[in-house]
Amino acid sequence: MIEIEIIQGDITKLTVDAIVNAANCSLLGGGGVDGAIHRAAGPELLRACIPLNGCETVAFPAISCGVYGYPWEAATEIAVKSVREFPAQKVKKVIFCCFGEEMEKLYREKVGSRR
Ligand code: APR
Repeated sequence: MIEIEIIQGDITKLTVDAIVNAANCSLLGGGGVDGAIHRAAGPELLRACIPLNGCETVAFPAISCGVYGYPWEAATEIAVKSVREFPAQKVKKVIFCCFGEEMEKLYREKVGSRR
């Protein structure tokens, strides 16, 4: 089973194997978390990822919960369910990185974890 950790903070500051981006199909970097990730990940960092053979620790922002306006309650439920149903292979740990207390609280409710 994949271990789930919930934290509050800036996803670009985490030391993980991979960060999942809330991007759009242009992949050019917009505002919100997408803009922050593009500003933090320069070409050097992206090149360094090429030889990585899989990722054990993956961090997720609250995808679609900003500009896209997806309801937080449903979004957090779907995100946790999706990770729990994902077959544990190489990925050992998922971090839900929340930008604020309210989002952290929702994720903790869905995961059933206390601070
Ligand atoms: N670290 C962690 N979470 C962050 C950060 C950050 N540095 N910056 C913003 N967030 C949070 C927001 O508070 C929100 O809860 O990420 C969540 C997702 O918000 P958005 O970035 O607005 O993403 P989304 O709603 O999925 O919209 C995606 O916005 O910037 C464009 O190119 C992007 O078109 C795409 C759209």
